[in-house]
Amino acid sequence: MNRITINPSRSTGTINRNIYGHFSEHLGRCIYGGIYVGEDSPIPNVNGMRTDVVEALKAIGIPVLRWPGGCFADEYHWQDGIGPKESRKRMVNTNWGHVVEDNSFGTHEFLELCRQLGCEPYINANVGSGTVREMAEWVEYLNSEGDSTVVRQRWANGRQEPWGVKYWGVGNESWGCGGNMRPEYYADEYRRYQTYCRDYPGSKLYRIACGASVADYNWTEVLMERAGRYMDAITLHHYSVTGPGWENKGKATVFDKSEYYELLNHAAYMDELVTNHSKIMDRYDPEKRVGLIVDEWGSWHQVEDGTNPGFLYQQNTMRDAMVAAITLNIFNRHCDRVVMANLAQTVNVLQSVVLTDGDKLVKTPTWHVFDLYKAHQDAQAVDCYVETDRISEAKGKAEGKWAVDRITASASVKDGAVTLTMANCSMDEAATVTVAVPNTGKVEGHILTGRADAYNDFDDSPLAAAPFTGFTAKRTGLSVKLPPCSVVALTIA
Ligand code: AHR
Repeated sequence: MNRITINPSRSTGTINRNIYGHFSEHLGRCIYGGIYVGEDSPIPNVNGMRTDVVEALKAIGIPVLRWPGGCFADEYHWQDGIGPKESRKRMVNTNWGHVVEDNSFGTHEFLELCRQLGCEPYINANVGSGTVREMAEWVEYLNSEGDSTVVRQRWANGRQEPWGVKYWGVGNESWGCGGNMRPEYYADEYRRYQTYCRDYPGSKLYRIACGASVADYNWTEVLMERAGRYMDAITLHHYSVTGPGWENKGKATVFDKSEYYELLNHAAYMDELVTNHSKIMDRYDPEKRVGLIVDEWGSWHQVEDGTNPGFLYQQNTMRDAMVAAITLNIFNRHCDRVVMANLAQTVNVLQSVVLTDGDKLVKTPTWHVFDLYKAHQDAQAVDCYVETDRISEAKGKAEGKWAVDRITASASVKDGAVTLTMANCSMDEAATVTVAVPNTGKVEGHILTGRADAYNDFDDSPLAAAPFTGFTAKRTGLSVKLPPCSVVALTIA
């Protein structure tokens, strides 16, 4: 029996729109070719930004964009990316494919991109190979109005007004590519860096500490204990993978039933991670002043055959759409603590929402999930109790290697209407769901469904959300028939 009980009058918090955020790194074809093609490109652009990509991201209401990394952030020196392009420093991107980075996309370009997208910028600064002064001056360059040498440099580069950038990350994966630090050491470094990142008039910073990898609960414990009072948020990274090991991941489009559920199981693990990290945070911050930001999440598969292994280019199937549906429902349900999340990565890298090939663009099934879920942004999350069974690789009484809830869901209320997003995680069985919700008025639905291994490509894009009518009104709610491997959004007036 699958039953969802919604209580629209019992709010569990506001779903911060930034939960629907994205992440773009100087990695492979994410920035160069994917977002930025330069003013002289034959590909239609505004100030160098691809018009088709900007339009696709605006259509899903992208609220915030994280940049410039990722591992790249801790090798990035912002001064290299300002001023006349022809004299910008060239470097080799040693993290990602050893390609030449000519710094033609820098601070001004990123903020122009955010202006076109109408989204908040989230800048991740360099701690690993940077200095306190470097980060402090980046904040000054962007946010100060004072007549200083740094601000005069901004004026000389064509920008009079400060941008007032709010979201600042202090290092990325400082436990790994960001410096291989111990949590005790990083906690002290974080305290030092954040001290000199000043709040300029009208620009109060939101300071974000580098958080844990997956289930490294000790990292969160140490950071909260030693630096919790100096931060506005702490991060968490968790990617969904299949296969025997990190170096030997499964393929994006070729997988069997076991690998399908293995990936979904890994995505659903986000719930346990957020719950446990939040419990630690609750002990140091019971008022929930400090937010949890999952600023890297999504599927991570083998790169597509014939592509640069350092570019992390992968296709994106209905299975990945299910990962997005499961994960976004988890974030909605934890909106009392999760204040932002950033899918990795926007274009052409890992679980992208759009893929490009020259002047062509394709919207992935993941893009359609973000489109289906966008009504949740800034809505009130409401009680949404899900009773369902587990699909598992049962081994006797044990669940085996994977076990996944058949139905996942979350609900919110905005402007008097309930939005219910749900997914049938079964690869091959339809499910009937009873939705108990008081006062059902007009109901509208949209669905994304297809074979688990179906994907959109440049010559054929079979997957798109379509109107959904597979529900019947009952006296106490709805009866909904969900096809296998489907994501549905219902608006209940
Ligand atoms: O998103 C790709 C990489 O994954 C990022 O650069 C890094 O932060 C993480 O390990």
